[in-house]
Amino acid sequence: MDSQTVRAKHKEFLFPCVANYYAEPVVIAEAHGASVTDLDGREYLDFFGGILTAGIGHSHPEFVKRIQDQVARLVHTSSVYPTVEQTKVAERLTKITPGKLKKSFFTTSGTEADETAVMLAKIYTGQQEIIVLRHSYAGRSQGAIAITGQQPWRVLPTQIAGVKHALSPYCYRCPLGLEYPDCGIRCAQDIEDLIRTTTNGRPAAFMAEPIQGAGGFITPPREYFEIAVGIIRKYGAVFICDEVQTGWGRTGDKWCGIEHWGVEPEIMTFAKSIANGFPVGATIATEEVANAFTGLSLSTFGGNPISMAAADVTMDVMERENTPKRSAERGKQLRDALEELKKRFAFIGDVRGMGLMQGIEFVEDRKTKEPSAKKTTAFLEACKKQGLLIGKGGLYGNVVRIAPSLLITKSEIDDGVKRMERALAELQ
Ligand SMILES: Cc1ncc(COP(=O)(O)O)c(C=O)c1O
Repeated sequence: MDSQTVRAKHKEFLFPCVANYYAEPVVIAEAHGASVTDLDGREYLDFFGGILTAGIGHSHPEFVKRIQDQVARLVHTSSVYPTVEQTKVAERLTKITPGKLKKSFFTTSGTEADETAVMLAKIYTGQQEIIVLRHSYAGRSQGAIAITGQQPWRVLPTQIAGVKHALSPYCYRCPLGLEYPDCGIRCAQDIEDLIRTTTNGRPAAFMAEPIQGAGGFITPPREYFEIAVGIIRKYGAVFICDEVQTGWGRTGDKWCGIEHWGVEPEIMTFAKSIANGFPVGATIATEEVANAFTGLSLSTFGGNPISMAAADVTMDVMERENTPKRSAERGKQLRDALEELKKRFAFIGDVRGMGLMQGIEFVEDRKTKEPSAKKTTAFLEACKKQGLLIGKGGLYGNVVRIAPSLLITKSEIDDGVKRMERALAELQ
């Protein structure tokens, strides 16, 4: 089959909501490291890692071998049996997460990990209301859609009562029209007002991403989480930290994104790169919080031996290669280069992010900050022409997301930046 046929069959046999990038979507046939090859034999440098998922690169040899061995030995047990693989990953998780996080529940996606976290917070506190953020993304179930703070993803009206959307710490487009640091982090302070005016004063949880991923890599100011979490704890709520995009070294120097803000969550969720492409969702909680979940709940495929082997070997490679440190180093190289590009191209309004999670916000005009989805789409196409795959996001569809493998090399970053530079010149 050639790419054209696959694209046609995709259109014919899949829901139209399974939307692809590009006017002519790339049909990926093979991928190794940071390199991806399409069905027609064209090679691309992958600067998006399958939505921040190929954390140790595509088809890492150690990863491939471990999966092959596992498939030959044990594929499925369901969660009604304990396994070596699952308990091993659960124990390892306690070592790379901050604070007293201790007990885990494994599922097959970030959506389920977040759903599990919210359910657990409600069970533990005996309360129902949840504080979340505008511009957030939590997945595609009806519960996750209710939490998600972006209209395009909310394909149904809110199905769950008691979800309150606090202001996003979106400094570039401050919802209060203020400037950091003179703002006094009013967006965080406003959570108290939100609780006192729109809830019964006893929320179950505050759930937030350290960096709002699908929201366009919105990076909260340094003081944000200490203030926000301080407030919600005063009202008896727990903090659920959604590390689905930021997890395991992505933000540089630390294993978990929230560690940069010095706050310890009661519940944390992971997915995406923790198993380098295998469908794994993880919800970890402190012993006290987790122990409240005594009712029955199972996941047929959650924590299955192959997925757990994938997470285990991903962790082996990440620890050995010290991906947090590599992400910080390569992230700085990338960020410096993007800041240089911002100086040259007036339609780049903002560059932000941490480690190997860097975003570029495109605008029509730096003064008005009018979002430019058109330029963003054109940039994606121009990068494709240069043989470079990147991502996009943001409520206005005007943020480019760059998040390659955490094992990306110095020369691959240089190469990718050169390709972006040529693409930007084409847009000029
Ligand atoms: C922060 C965050 N949470 C949850 C999800 C949902 O994960 P999944 O697509 O694996 O269900 C995503 C997916 O992009 C995400 O970015």
